[in-house]
Amino acid sequence: MATHFSSSLQIIIMFLCCTVCSTDISCRNEAGEPVDWFIIYKLPRYKIGEVGSGVDYMYLDSSVWSWQMSKFMVNTSQGAIVNTLNQLYMGKAYKSNSSVYALYNDGPPILDYIQGYGHTKGVLLFDRSQGFWLSHSIPHFPSFPERGYLYPSSGKVNGQTALCVTYHYEQFLQIAKQMVYLYPRFYNCSVPAAFLADLPQLAQLCEGSKPPLASDKRVEQLFSMQGEKFVSFVKSERYVDDIYTGWVAQALDADLLVESWQRQGHELPSNCSLPKHTMNIKRIRLPGSVLFQSHYDHSKWCVSRASEDQVTCLGDLNRESAQMWRGGGLVCTFNPLIYKAFRQLVDWYIGC
Ligand SMILES: *[C@@H]1O[C@H](CO)[C@@H](O)[C@H](O)[C@H]1NC(C)=O
Ligand SMILES: *[C@@H]1O[C@H](CO)[C@@H](O)[C@H](O)[C@H]1NC(C)=O
Ligand SMILES: *[C@@H]1O[C@H](CO)[C@@H](O)[C@H](O)[C@H]1NC(C)=O
Ligand SMILES: *[C@@H]1O[C@H](CO)[C@@H](O)[C@H](O)[C@H]1NC(C)=O
Repeated sequence: MATHFSSSLQIIIMFLCCTVCSTDISCRNEAGEPVDWFIIYKLPRYKIGEVGSGVDYMYLDSSVWSWQMSKFMVNTSQGAIVNTLNQLYMGKAYKSNSSVYALYNDGPPILDYIQGYGHTKGVLLFDRSQGFWLSHSIPHFPSFPERGYLYPSSGKVNGQTALCVTYHYEQFLQIAKQMVYLYPRFYNCSVPAAFLADLPQLAQLCEGSKPPLASDKRVEQLFSMQGEKFVSFVKSERYVDDIYTGWVAQALDADLLVESWQRQGHELPSNCSLPKHTMNIKRIRLPGSVLFQSHYDHSKWCVSRASEDQVTCLGDLNRESAQMWRGGGLVCTFNPLIYKAFRQLVDWYIGC
């Protein structure tokens, strides 16, 4: 009797908890349920010996053991990214004075390109309790809030990645400090009056002004809702160097294999001059042995060469000389599942 009572009580509590949780601002998985973090890898249209749709993608979160091919397409109304962003689009959170949001992209949808902003793309949405930070590599994305979710055709040909992490409100105070270094182009944003005291710099960025910087780069540990550690490395345009070689490889004390968008004639070669080396990935092997060339991949990520170091970073910057003069950053994780998923994608890199 007592067991019966306690198990039905448990069910009621679980039900109440889920109802509450599902209204909390959070990264959302493929089914629309809240998750601590997820990563998607949108595959390029041109693979070796195969032409794909350009809208198919692989999905990863802590509940799956490796990359899952999504049954959805990135340009439709179902899937993790749209489920996450619909909290802004459908929930009309962009009109709310109890939540903060920012859409940023150096190349925003429709609007002209303006020089001087950081080479960084993403979305912030949070309230006094929690929210998400989605960082991604997709140009002209996401769409203006009143237009609803749209995936740009310019984001179809090349590979792209997106990392979403759910954080407590307090972590956004740190994320806001990182944003100052990134100097993102906020093309739609709102920092309501009630948040001004906590987030003065975010409000300045939202108004289009540039808050002053204490130095030229900054590193900060961030902890997700579930306590997973992420390390945010950000540099301003005043730190003139390749972020991977000059800073992150040395700071992590790890040789890095880097996948980034390198246009012919602009690429920084693999570099073994400093104690820790940075080497360019040239070809990716997807689960199931399909290969594609980095040439068709606009994503920006790196993994440690050695599994002892077990580090994976996703970010904003390419290994190209012009990007040394741009603001941008990387979010790194030591999660073994994420490391294994990315490390096994490396098919060929240029050593030195
Ligand atoms: C998604 O993209 C594919 C490939 O370009 C296209 O065939 C399809 O019509 C698009 N679907 C939507 C809903 O836009
Ligand atoms: C927020 O909006 C609500 C409803 O429009 C309004 O009643 C409230 O005073 C607003 N709060 C602040 C702090 O502006
Ligand atoms: C987003 O920005 C665009 C371009 O400036 C503007 O047309 C649109 O009204 C903005 N939307 C919101 C909700 O601020
Ligand atoms: C390697 O990278 C460092 C840091 O960016 C740079 O100073 C050095 O010139 C590079 N070496 C070569 C051979 O490109």
